[in-house]
Amino acid sequence: MAIEKVGVVGCGLMGSGIAQVCAQAGFPTVVREVNAQLVEKGLKSIEKNLARLVEKGTITEGAKSEIRGRLKGTTAIEELKNCDLIVEAIIEQLTAKRELFAALDGLCPAETIFASNTSSLTITEIATATKRPQRFVGLHFFNPVPVMKLVEVVRTIATNAAVYEEVVAFGTKLGKTAVRAHDSTGFIVNRLLVPYLLDAIRALEEGVGSIEDIDHSMKLGCGHPMGPLTLLDFVGLDTTYYISQIMFEEFKERRFAAPPLLKRMVLAGWNGRKAGKGFYDYADPGNPKAMKF
Ligand code: 3HC
Repeated sequence: MAIEKVGVVGCGLMGSGIAQVCAQAGFPTVVREVNAQLVEKGLKSIEKNLARLVEKGTITEGAKSEIRGRLKGTTAIEELKNCDLIVEAIIEQLTAKRELFAALDGLCPAETIFASNTSSLTITEIATATKRPQRFVGLHFFNPVPVMKLVEVVRTIATNAAVYEEVVAFGTKLGKTAVRAHDSTGFIVNRLLVPYLLDAIRALEEGVGSIEDIDHSMKLGCGHPMGPLTLLDFVGLDTTYYISQIMFEEFKERRFAAPPLLKRMVLAGWNGRKAGKGFYDYADPGNPKAMKF
């Protein structure tokens, strides 16, 4: 069975990006949020991204209308029942994800493939909320989804091989490089990225360098698009803290343990760019200023 129609659950930062790339790749896409305001907010951010692509000459106004025409926002979960693949991008909480997939399992035909965009939870544990773990995969995108060229396609010990190949092919059709990963906590990227980000905080704690100097070092010395502390602000300190706790719980290794400074910043609500404050102060968003601790 080919994947022709896609459902996305969640139209926040990740869900709206996923819905956008699916519609851009030619797939009729239904995206569901819990209320009308959130549907509207998500679709507006897609509109804005598409308008920017028209401005830059990447797509024509006609193509933008076609993409927009393939996208449907809804609050009704029932509207997802004719989708061939449903990608979940809701809150990073096991119970919420399991409840959602149990409901979708009762609603959708047996052939529908389910995918979770979780960055840290175990796919196997989400899949067992359904009666179709063989048709269940991880599909982990990166922020900002329309820009980042990677998707991790995650198989569990229960995933059917043909289903898995179909989802890998789907990831490629989205214009992404689809890498194959096992259902190991953090998959490939966060397994390597999270210890690196946590080590950058440890380096700051130990006075190895200032915020700016740590960021400049990795940006200019290693050619990274952002330094690690800027990236932490971009990803969200709360998100990184949460992921590190799950990874530490799984592997019991110090490299995944949250440094005390990260915990305190999260407790203070300094969660990064979205909070206006993290390792940098974003009072003037175009000109962030390094915080003084
Ligand atoms: N949506 C859509 N397009 C966006 C965008 C967004 N949110 N943000 C930037 N862009 C586009 C811009 O329009 C621009 O396009 P153009 O080159 O065609 O003109 C391009 O991206 C570059 O943007 P800017 O010139 O404004 O800024 P930068 O050159 O600094 O790039 C960045 C911004 C793409 C965010 C870049 O800094 C970057 O790649 N940073 C690293 C991001 C990263 O590592 N993401 C992964 C995080 S980890 C994760 O998501 C996993 C999770 O589990 C934690």
